[in-house]
Amino acid sequence: MAAPQSCPAEPSWLDSAELRRHDRYRVAAAQDRFLRSHCFVRAVLSSYLEEIRPSEWRFRIEDRGRPEIAPGLGETYRGIADLRFNLSHTESLFALIVTSTIDCGVDVEKTTRSTDLLGVGRRSFAPPEFETFQKLLGAARRRRFFEYWTLKESYIKAIGSGLSTPLRDFWFDLSSDPPTVSFASHHDDNPTQWHFGLVRPTPCHQLAWSVRSGRVPGSKQAKVRWWPDREIVSVPDCRLPP
Ligand SMILES: CC(C)(COP(=O)(O)OP(=O)(O)OC[C@H]1O[C@@H](n2cnc3c(N)ncnc32)[C@H](O)[C@@H]1OP(=O)(O)O)[C@@H](O)C(=O)NCCC(=O)NCCS
Repeated sequence: MAAPQSCPAEPSWLDSAELRRHDRYRVAAAQDRFLRSHCFVRAVLSSYLEEIRPSEWRFRIEDRGRPEIAPGLGETYRGIADLRFNLSHTESLFALIVTSTIDCGVDVEKTTRSTDLLGVGRRSFAPPEFETFQKLLGAARRRRFFEYWTLKESYIKAIGSGLSTPLRDFWFDLSSDPPTVSFASHHDDNPTQWHFGLVRPTPCHQLAWSVRSGRVPGSKQAKVRWWPDREIVSVPDCRLPP
């Protein structure tokens, strides 16, 4: 199956857990976004492994909510166990990152939403981030808020920890391109293993991804996609030579 050129909405592709979540939505637009985003994940995964139809994918949910491809199909099809993915949705757009083996996370946010930038920044950003952020004004401050925010979320999503990782325990430096990260001494991770990216899919959306380096059997390059628009961005530098 080729990578999807449109975003199907096929309830018959969802498993029972997804269907239960789908049926709980009371707002039609949110329900449609859930359906399309989950069908998009399935269609994109099937574009990597043509033997598996979109409806055949099964997922397990890790302790803190991160979905992974369930073992089982992997016994039948080589390569399936390598695939990792992460999904993010916001009001009018969703994004998906797919890698092979390595940890990955993506976050997309609508940057025009009303938020107490300074108050949330003070609570959520580490001192080096907040110091830079508070000096900015107007559009520059708003932009930087969502750059930090999406990077932070994409990292906690990549490690699957959700909010159990204090957001002030790690901080980003955007003076270099691509961004780099630093960790508090009690946070057990290696900053040199990580690669980050920032993209603006539309003038009012900010997207960030986090990808950990590693040896990647099969060499499937990490890719970020979003919908609408179906843009595909290859994540650079996330593979080490075998
Ligand atoms: C997991 C978490 C990070 C998701 O954040 P979010 O912005 O609400 O949601 P997103 O749209 O980006 O991602 C949702 C998707 O991530 C995946 N997901 C769920 N839990 C996850 C976890 N622990 N790790 C990685 N991915 C997860 C799911 O695929 C989910 O999609 P689904 O609900 O359709 O199944 C959220 O639970 C959380 O802890 N948010 C932190 C909020 C915050 O204060 N951030 C401050 C940043 S400065």
